Amino acid sequence: LKPVSTGRYEITQREAVLEVLPGFKTPMWTYDGTFPGPTIESRRGRPITVTHRNELPVPTVVHLHGGRSTPESDGYPTDLVVPENWGAMHHGGGHGGEHSGMQDPRAVVTTLTRDYTFPTDQRAALLWYHDHRMDFTAPAIWRGLAGLHIVRDDLEDSLDLPSGPRELPLLIADRSFTADGSLDYPSLDPTLRTTPGVREPYLAGVLGDVILVNGSPWPVHEVDAARYRLRILNASNARHYELEAVTDDGRRLDLVQVGADQGLLAAPVTHQHLPIAPAERYDVILDFASVEVGGRVRILNRLGDGRTRDVMAFRVARTAKDDSRVPAVLANDLPTWQRSDAIRVRDFSLRAGQMNGGHGWVIGGRSFDPARSDVTVRLGDVEVWRLIADVHHPVHLHLVGFQVLSRGGGSPLPHDAGLKDTVSLRPGESAEIITRFDGYRGRYLFHCHNAEHEDMGMMANLEIV
Ligand code: C2O
Ligand code: CU
Ligand code: CU
Repeated sequence: LKPVSTGRYEITQREAVLEVLPGFKTPMWTYDGTFPGPTIESRRGRPITVTHRNELPVPTVVHLHGGRSTPESDGYPTDLVVPENWGAMHHGGGHGGEHSGMQDPRAVVTTLTRDYTFPTDQRAALLWYHDHRMDFTAPAIWRGLAGLHIVRDDLEDSLDLPSGPRELPLLIADRSFTADGSLDYPSLDPTLRTTPGVREPYLAGVLGDVILVNGSPWPVHEVDAARYRLRILNASNARHYELEAVTDDGRRLDLVQVGADQGLLAAPVTHQHLPIAPAERYDVILDFASVEVGGRVRILNRLGDGRTRDVMAFRVARTAKDDSRVPAVLANDLPTWQRSDAIRVRDFSLRAGQMNGGHGWVIGGRSFDPARSDVTVRLGDVEVWRLIADVHHPVHLHLVGFQVLSRGGGSPLPHDAGLKDTVSLRPGESAEIITRFDGYRGRYLFHCHNAEHEDMGMMANLEIV
């Protein structure tokens, strides 16, 4: 038996100047002074508490994406961690200090530090934490507020997948920089808007022309001629990728998917290329055994052009012994929900609409309003949700993992396998997802994970009662 312990972590959110591009200084908003933030590792069944201290000049909210969290720790967009000077700056004479109860008009809770407690009652999976403040999520993530959180469990440990230095989390994010090395983000803040309609060019979301992997532009990583486990996260605000692994002599290596957003698949799925939308994760085995020492394998983005076609590269540095394996059966604990288990089918359209009289994005015709309840489900119910999109929208549900039942009226695609928390709808496409709403009662969210779409209203309240 493993001892049950309670892990505690402390993270300070602060400004830091980082060297992201060689020779340049980039002011960023960080978790603990790094980008990405520190990687948290937790173990299934062991609750942890992460104390966030906000030393940034703005309120923040922390959400653990993919976490089966209680509503109190889920990072609702108005559940702010307010910095010390915010009261004085914005509410005339409010005083700082911990738990001083300063009132932001929209805030539910306002404090300088906040404990986020995670039950960690969930399958091993790659999760991530990021800012989730109402209307400001996209610029906050862009400035650096994102980090990884890996949940481990005994089932996964028993499989002999590549581990240790051969397990590589890869947080992929595009960014743009100005000539002096600062991050370049076109402002979406209406109070800073001088030209009417300035939102319009960014309706599709903000793209960068530099691809960062774990905070470095187009890195080259040295590997053994052996299997590696790549834990891939697309942490970009709006960019979609279609990844492939290509050797110098033009050979495409198999991407053997062993896991999805919410952990291991039932059985591996082999891909030649793998689409990944914002917030999606793929757990992929890539075998370098067939590459000779000194050779390279480039990870390319088939949807990119010019600089955004390259993502990163691996250089095979040495031959090595490999004890890892990819078992034909990975996990037998996946839910087996059937369409006939669903007590309700709901329809949601995701499309362009109005937000505060300007251009925005809406779900079911409505722009996000924290004061409105959009969907009420009963704890424990199985439901089918039919989602239909006008343009590309990666749709994410908080709290629950789901399975993709159908896509475009037909079968799901190979990369839809397993338990997901984000499904990428292509332009004009519909998809059905099925899930059981178990976990906790309270207020959660579902939204588009194009971060600009989310800030422009494409989010809804999900009430579990
Ligand atoms: Cu990754 Cu509600 O978000
Ligand atoms: Cu989430
Ligand atoms: Cu969207």
